Amino acid sequence: MSDSPAIEVRDLVRVFESRKGFLFNEVNRTQALKGVDLTVEPGEIFGLLGPNGAGKTTLVKILSTLLLPTSGTARVLGHDVARDADWLRPRIGLVLGGERGVYTRISGRENLRYFADLYGVPPGEREPRIQAVLERVDLASAADRRVEEYSRGMKQKLHIARGILHRPSILFLDEPTIGLDPKSARETRKLVRSLEGDGVTILLTTHYMFEAEELCPRLAVLSKGRIVANDTVDALRHRVGGDRTIEVEAYGFEDREHAALRALPGVSKVASEEFGPRVRLTLRIRTLETTPAHVAALLPGHPELSVRERRTSLEDVYLDLVEEEAT
Ligand SMILES: Nc1ncnc2c1ncn2[C@@H]1O[C@H](COP(=O)(O)OP(=O)(O)OP(=O)(O)O)[C@@H](O)[C@H]1O
Ligand SMILES: [Mg+2]
Repeated sequence: MSDSPAIEVRDLVRVFESRKGFLFNEVNRTQALKGVDLTVEPGEIFGLLGPNGAGKTTLVKILSTLLLPTSGTARVLGHDVARDADWLRPRIGLVLGGERGVYTRISGRENLRYFADLYGVPPGEREPRIQAVLERVDLASAADRRVEEYSRGMKQKLHIARGILHRPSILFLDEPTIGLDPKSARETRKLVRSLEGDGVTILLTTHYMFEAEELCPRLAVLSKGRIVANDTVDALRHRVGGDRTIEVEAYGFEDREHAALRALPGVSKVASEEFGPRVRLTLRIRTLETTPAHVAALLPGHPELSVRERRTSLEDVYLDLVEEEAT
């Protein structure tokens, strides 16, 4: 079993049906997943990106046995999520962003006691393990306060504590840093990396591109229920036209200037965007040949011309891929 992928999804479809209208006789069908294929190897931190409504949470819920697939298969740790849910549950950790999933009338520590018992943590280990997890998420000093008194970020930390308490082999993190302040978000990313050191496989969804870039060597982009990209960040940079980006700003450009920039060696794409009176052209470049100096030389006579080079970011890649999908 150890050499099977940690996650193996084949042609996964999930349809939601809800009733509406007079007498609830109209059925609304949403196909949240439209045939998803995905493989994640043991010990990986794998990123799942995609616009709102793409199907990320639906996929995470199926993989963590909270929802059943409509068709297709999903295997986690070599076991089918529909048939072997009871075997899988104690081996899976799940952190969903948001406020639900913890009890607000009792303290953080009492919440963790409840979940420790539910997940079968041995009674003799329970208290020290809870204390260690509370310290790991920086919640120890508030552990005995009622959760209703917690701030949003504190609740999110409690979610994370709950997700790792039973030492799962695989952890699903659905927007784990949503609502956290920058320092707590950074500590959470550090915690995620330390779990990688423990050999835990992690599937992480996020809307923060720097977070994905920092944590996930490989990632997939889900758009409208389909995987539209699945690779390393570097390979995805290549796919969207190169890892160099030059940005040029001025008070407008002529069509012939656009054309001249597009004709420079290695330039795969020139996108234009307005910022008030200024226009920014973003050039995606495949080779080393074309430099900011070459670009500036084609644009004489512009007052306050600015030309700067930077590495193509995951955000650039993501926006290009999602745009590619929309056209
Ligand atoms: N219980 C449900 N009943 C009906 N439709 C649902 C249900 N849950 C999700 N959907 C629909 O399925 C689609 C995918 O939703 P999902 O929550 O998986 O997206 P997401 O990628 O997680 O989005 P976000 O980035 O906003 O969290 C959406 O169209 C959503 O409206
Ligand atoms: Mg979601």
